[in-house]
Amino acid sequence: MEEDFSEIPAEVEARLERVFDQYRESVNPSLARLMQFGGFGDIEDSAEGCYVTTATGKRYLDFVGGFGVFSLGHCHPRVREAVHHQLDRLPLSTKTFFNEQQAQLAARLAEIAPGDLQYTFFSNSGAETIDAALKFARVATGKTDFVSTVGAFHGKTLGALSVTGREKIRTPFEPLLPGVSFVPFNDLDAMRNAVTDRTAGIVVETVQGEGGIHLATTDYMVGLRELCDERGTLLIVDEVQTGLGRTGKMFGVEHHGITPDIMTLAKALGGGILPIGATMANRTVWEKVFGVNPLLHTSTFGGNPLACVAGLTAIEVTLSANLAQNAAERGEQLLTGLRAVQNQLPNAILEVRGQGLMIGVEFPIQDIAEVTINILAGEGIIAAYTLNNPRVIRIEPPLIVTAEQCGCFLQAFTLSVQTALSMLEGL
Ligand SMILES: Cc1ncc(COP(=O)(O)O)c(C=O)c1O
Repeated sequence: MEEDFSEIPAEVEARLERVFDQYRESVNPSLARLMQFGGFGDIEDSAEGCYVTTATGKRYLDFVGGFGVFSLGHCHPRVREAVHHQLDRLPLSTKTFFNEQQAQLAARLAEIAPGDLQYTFFSNSGAETIDAALKFARVATGKTDFVSTVGAFHGKTLGALSVTGREKIRTPFEPLLPGVSFVPFNDLDAMRNAVTDRTAGIVVETVQGEGGIHLATTDYMVGLRELCDERGTLLIVDEVQTGLGRTGKMFGVEHHGITPDIMTLAKALGGGILPIGATMANRTVWEKVFGVNPLLHTSTFGGNPLACVAGLTAIEVTLSANLAQNAAERGEQLLTGLRAVQNQLPNAILEVRGQGLMIGVEFPIQDIAEVTINILAGEGIIAAYTLNNPRVIRIEPPLIVTAEQCGCFLQAFTLSVQTALSMLEGL
C-alpha cells in the first residue's frame, strides 16, 4: 500500500523522498520497498516513553518496543542523563587502564544474575554474545559441537547463525559451524538423543521470541539442566530478548529455578539508548577461557563506559520501578483481552500465548498477520511479526506501558483483525 503524502508540507515530502532515494541507492532497495508497502514509509523523528513521532507528525504507540530493546520506553530521562554525564567525561575506554564503569556493571550483573554467574564479557550486540558463548563453551569443555532448537533465533553473525533454527536464513551462508544439530523445542527426549560426547553446549531461549513466542516448560528447562550435568556439556541460555524483566521476572530462567552455565543479555541492557551485549558465566568457565590468556577473546568497543553507564542505570530503573511486576500485570491484561478476541474470532486466531510482555498471537495464514499490522500502522500503532514465524504477531510494548495504553491497543487490535478478515474475504 503506497503512503498518502498529499496532506504533508512540501519540505517534509522532499525529506521523505530524499531518504527513500538514499535507502534505494545506498542502503537496501528491497527493504525500502518492503517498509513502504508495510505502512512504515515514514521517517522516525523523535521518541519518548511508549510513543514514536515521525517526520509527517504522526504519533505511534509502540507495541514492538524495538524487539525488546525499549523496555524502559524511549529516551528514558535517567539513562539519558547518566549517558550525557559520561559523554562529557570519558565516552570510550583506552583499554589500557581499568575501566570503572565496566567493573561496576559486571559487579552489579553478578549481584542480580541467578546462582553462580559471576563474570561478564561485554560486547555490542546479541549475536556477539552468542559467538562468545559458543567460543567459551568450546574452550571450557574441550568439545566442539552444539545442539540448538528448531525455530530458535540467536543472531546473524556466522557463529550465532550456525545455531539459529531456521534453514531459510542459514542455507545461503553455508557451510557454517560444523557439528551443530537442531531438535524440536520443548522436546527433552529429542535433546537427550542429540547430545553426544562431542557436545560442548546446548543453546536455548526460555521463550523462543523470533520463533513465534513459544514458552519453555519448567520440566524442559530442569531436564536440560540435569542432562547437561549428566553429560558434561554446558547449558547456554540466551536471554538477549527475555532478560531484564520482559517475562515478568528479571530473567527468564527464574521461572524455572535453574542456573545456566552461560547466560547472554543484550537489547534491554542498553536502557533503550546504547547498544551493549553481555555474556555471563561461572568461575569454572572463566578460568578455562581466560586463565592462561586474558586476551583470548576481546572487543574494541565492548564494555565502553557509555554503554556500561546506560546498563547500570537501566538495571536500577528496572528494579526501582518494579518493571518486571508491571510486565507480569500488563501481560495478564493483554493475554486476557487477546483471548477474548480469539473467542470472538476463533477462525482467525489459532492461539494466544505469552509470558509477561512477550506475547504472540498466531494466525492460520501469514496474510492476516500482515494486513493486521498494516491496518494497525494506519491506526497509529507499531506492531510486527516474529522473524522466524511470520504467522505470529508479537506484542512486546515497553515495560512501562500503562493499563490504559494496553486497553487502546486491544481495541485497535480487535478492529484491525476484523477489518483484515473482511478485506481478505473480499479478495
Ligand atoms: C534471543 C535472541 N538472541 C540473539 C539475538 C541477536 O541479537 P542482535 O540482533 O543484537 O545481534 C536476538 C535478536 O533478536 C534474539 O532475539
